[in-house]
Amino acid sequence: MSLLHAAKIALGSLVKAPHPPAPPRSGLAPLPPTRQVLPSGFLLGAATASHQVEGGNDNDWSEWEKGSYPDGKPHIKHRDVSGAACDSWNRFSSDVALLRELGANAYRLSVEWSRLEPEEGSWNEAAADRYLEWMRMLRAQGIQPMVTLSHFTLPRWVAAQGGWANEKTVEWIAAYTRRVARKLGSEVDLWCTLNEPNVLMAFGYMKGEWPPGLKDGKLGLQVLARQIRAHARMARELREHDTVDADGDGHATRVGIAHHVRIFQPATRSPMDRVMAGFTDRLFNQLLVDVNRTGRIQMSVPGMADMDEAVPDLKGSYDYLGLNYYSRDMVRADFSSPTLSRQYVAEGRPVNDLGWDIYPEGLYQALKRYGRAGLPIYITENGMADGKGERRPGFLREHFEALVRAAHEGVDVRGYFHWSLMDNFEWAEGYEPRFGLFRVDYGSPDRRRVPTPAVATFQELARGLGLSPQARTDDAA
Ligand code: NOJ
Repeated sequence: MSLLHAAKIALGSLVKAPHPPAPPRSGLAPLPPTRQVLPSGFLLGAATASHQVEGGNDNDWSEWEKGSYPDGKPHIKHRDVSGAACDSWNRFSSDVALLRELGANAYRLSVEWSRLEPEEGSWNEAAADRYLEWMRMLRAQGIQPMVTLSHFTLPRWVAAQGGWANEKTVEWIAAYTRRVARKLGSEVDLWCTLNEPNVLMAFGYMKGEWPPGLKDGKLGLQVLARQIRAHARMARELREHDTVDADGDGHATRVGIAHHVRIFQPATRSPMDRVMAGFTDRLFNQLLVDVNRTGRIQMSVPGMADMDEAVPDLKGSYDYLGLNYYSRDMVRADFSSPTLSRQYVAEGRPVNDLGWDIYPEGLYQALKRYGRAGLPIYITENGMADGKGERRPGFLREHFEALVRAAHEGVDVRGYFHWSLMDNFEWAEGYEPRFGLFRVDYGSPDRRRVPTPAVATFQELARGLGLSPQARTDDAA
């Protein structure tokens, strides 16, 4: 079974197949008020990423969108390009106003490596100053930043030298991390090194749907290992160079990773379906959790990799586990398929606009399971594509309830970040999917942010935690 197969299992196209419906969620004991269940200092926020909202970026994705890669094809649905995106680079204060309107006390955002280091060895101090100003603006308004250092994009000079296929990227991203830690460390305590290394491996290096567009299972595996090594180096840089305890809570630096986890469920009770679901789960979900405990990268995929490597600084490199949770897949063994299995969304399941199963119970299951890793957990992303915005309130309420239930049963969960604060550039899917709590009117000159019905739901959750949503003034709209 090759890793390429495994990745396809994990992320392959969704195919409808019959499956018994999920068990009803009735019979659950009512929960005490959230304030009594969740720890004090619980972070309730929203998340975005630089390339998806800032606008005007110049990185490997900008090239990919334009079709400048060797195949010369535009790669984004409807030939969209990220372009001006939400223009957050110029409208950051209005984004902060949105967070205040929500009653959020935290914001997960990323800083853009290609802006800060547009050429090898260069440094854009003006861009760094702007990020520093943003962090100060957030903190001044009671909003704790969680900063992601690399959310999928790479500077063009890194991509031109192979990107994650090149071992030197580990040192390059470590050097970049050191500079960011020194610059922003006075205002930032919560760091997220990398976003979804498993997804980047699969889409960029195995399925060929994201830059650099490669379809090489063996290389994909090496890329995953390289990102893990990079994370360990970045964690060390953050601990050595951001020594300031910005919020005075006794923790100067907390480092984690945003790890995409999915629920993989055998489509039937057949032993083969179970084996394939288990295999996929270990490779896609468990591996990135285990590395923190073992300090080793252990992967054994026949014909593809046989790796058992001790990595310096890896053990204990997570101060928290960040989980991005969206959905569930049914896995069915299928030996007539080159992937040996297929993924299914069960017939009749509620799905989002991208066809993903809406399965709040999965968030509870993930929290219970990964809570056993003995680390505090932040839900670093959770959300749904919902163009009409009508189903997001229910989605948000049910997922948050799943989190509260897990916390009530003892899971140490410290925060929840909804994806996303506003609609944004959804990678290969372009601008069509709308994940925002605020709808972005891309046609208006000021990229107007319009509240969707889920804003009221979020505000309710915020009030339940003792936070106070603030009305937006018109000039912040
Ligand atoms: C996870 C990714 O981190 C984010 O960039 C993306 O937009 C959301 N999932 C939704 O697909």
